[in-house]
Amino acid sequence: MRASTDPGVATAERYRAFAEVEARGMSACYERWAAGVAADPEIVKLIDLLPPVKRQPNLVFSAARLHGAVVGEYPAFAAWLREHWALVAATCLTHATQTNEPGRCAVLLPALAALAGPLAIIEVGASAGLCLHPDRYSYRYRFADGGERMLHPRDRANPVVLDCDVSGPVPLPERMPEIVWRAGIDLHPLDVCSDADVAWLDALIWPEHDDRRSRLRAAVAVARQEPVEIVRGDLNAQIEALVARAPAGATVVVFHTAVLAYLNATDRGRFAAQMTRLPVRWLSNEGQSVVPGVLERLGEAPAPSHSIPASAFILALDGEPIALTQPHGRSLHWLG
Ligand SMILES: C[S@@+](CC[C@H](N)C(=O)[O-])C[C@H]1O[C@@H](n2cnc3c(N)ncnc32)[C@H](O)[C@@H]1O
Repeated sequence: MRASTDPGVATAERYRAFAEVEARGMSACYERWAAGVAADPEIVKLIDLLPPVKRQPNLVFSAARLHGAVVGEYPAFAAWLREHWALVAATCLTHATQTNEPGRCAVLLPALAALAGPLAIIEVGASAGLCLHPDRYSYRYRFADGGERMLHPRDRANPVVLDCDVSGPVPLPERMPEIVWRAGIDLHPLDVCSDADVAWLDALIWPEHDDRRSRLRAAVAVARQEPVEIVRGDLNAQIEALVARAPAGATVVVFHTAVLAYLNATDRGRFAAQMTRLPVRWLSNEGQSVVPGVLERLGEAPAPSHSIPASAFILALDGEPIALTQPHGRSLHWLG
């Protein structure tokens, strides 16, 4: 678990770690805010009024931005937070960090398209389910030599174009996989048809990431055309019953991205065991040490580069690593 999300770590330390490890290079605003909080005992005292699990920087900052905190310097933010603390605290208590990044479909798609179809897909930890429409977005895969490959849904190009830099022998598909059934599971499903839920998804996107914000809006419009059922509950408790509901004759694919890090080691192991036991293909896209056994099977990873950040996730099929991916789906390095 990262220091910023570890409830056992003191608040000032959680914010300092968030500034230095997660926000640096990703959001200048959040880096300033988090470093400012870490050095501000008065604001730390306010945040400490929340239960430990709710003190995480990403949650507090997203709640603040939902209520109108303006991107800028720390002193103005601290003054705003003191004035609006009751509102921010109430939102922290009722909401969770469940960023839904449709860009991750760009790294899932080649693996899905390589499986024998038709497919029935189940996403565990689906949030609002924006990654459950991989066949309905358009893609621009870009190569290091400047070339690119476009891929569109069967009928026509979609306004959502997911850009992804690719390297290695990636099996880019000629056409979209045939997906005949789809469903999700989440502890707290968000409803793509609810404006309040979409406003929360928007607030969860970091301040400077405007491309992700406009993509979110466009992906929500796609998902609203054919909303997908997302079962409320724990993935370990719900998966077997949902797999049993998939149509006969389809290859059932259970996938997840940026989810298992929220589970403890016992529950991760339990889920991995269910993936081995159930009649499914299992596609995981998670932090490197998150899925039991996957990092060990990776062997020697390629050195970090533009297309392989040090924070790369491992994409694995049935527990075998097949690619390294940028955590928001911006790049994909297929393993040889
Ligand atoms: C960071 S979000 C990722 C959402 C989506 N997979 C994506 O990549 O855009 C993690 C999601 O996992 C869900 N989650 C965490 N633990 C879970 C569990 N034990 N069972 C079901 N869902 C869970 C959270 O509620 C949240 O919506």
